Amino acid sequence: MPTPHISAASGDFAETILLPGDPLRARHIADNYFDDAREVTAVRGMLGFTGEFKGTPISAMGTGMGIPSASIYVTELITEYGAKNLIRVGTCGSFQESVPVRGIILGMGACTDSGVNRTRFDGADFAAIADFHLLRTAVEAAERLGTEVHVGNLFSGDLFYDPRPERFQRIAAMGVLGAEMEAAGIYGIAAQHSVRALAMAMVSDHLISEEKLSAEDRQTAVGKMVELALETVVSL
Ligand code: HPA
Repeated sequence: MPTPHISAASGDFAETILLPGDPLRARHIADNYFDDAREVTAVRGMLGFTGEFKGTPISAMGTGMGIPSASIYVTELITEYGAKNLIRVGTCGSFQESVPVRGIILGMGACTDSGVNRTRFDGADFAAIADFHLLRTAVEAAERLGTEVHVGNLFSGDLFYDPRPERFQRIAAMGVLGAEMEAAGIYGIAAQHSVRALAMAMVSDHLISEEKLSAEDRQTAVGKMVELALETVVSL
């Protein structure tokens, strides 16, 4: 059933959905990788597409930026459209010298300063983790493709423009690999509804060296991550 935020009909989404933050990236994924891609929703410009990849039904939909926006779309994709495998394909900032720009992080877990999982977990600290089957399948897919991945913790912050830059050092010292804004929320929702989720994040900017990718480099590097996500999907 259409919702206030998604106009697709029942059955319009595949069970496996790639989730970039940027809706235009969802279109780019559908146009460049899917067979028989069709647009299934465009409410508020938050585009969703469904097609096939190597014979496997697959969708891609933008989530917008931040946990509140992503939570609306991900919840409805699960509860109204039957999504079972959610793979975020996003970008992040790197906290670690060992994780360079263009590097791909697989979020084994995701820390957050958002309150959503405490709300969900009756005030206790929920360990927001990736689905092990998705994570293992992605690691094996990366090995087959010869794509280097960094597996570890993400930090899903509520504030992109955080007025407390000093806290970056503490987060980095705890071994967190990358800063983004959605994974912990998506993991909490997936747990609540017993579906699988994994967040992949390509390093678009480095929080130590302050190196940033150009728009063109970013597109190429995201492509590598999307290819990894697709290889993961066909191996599930
Ligand atoms: N912080 C949060 N989200 C991000 C970043 C960042 O540095 N880079 C890309 N997404």
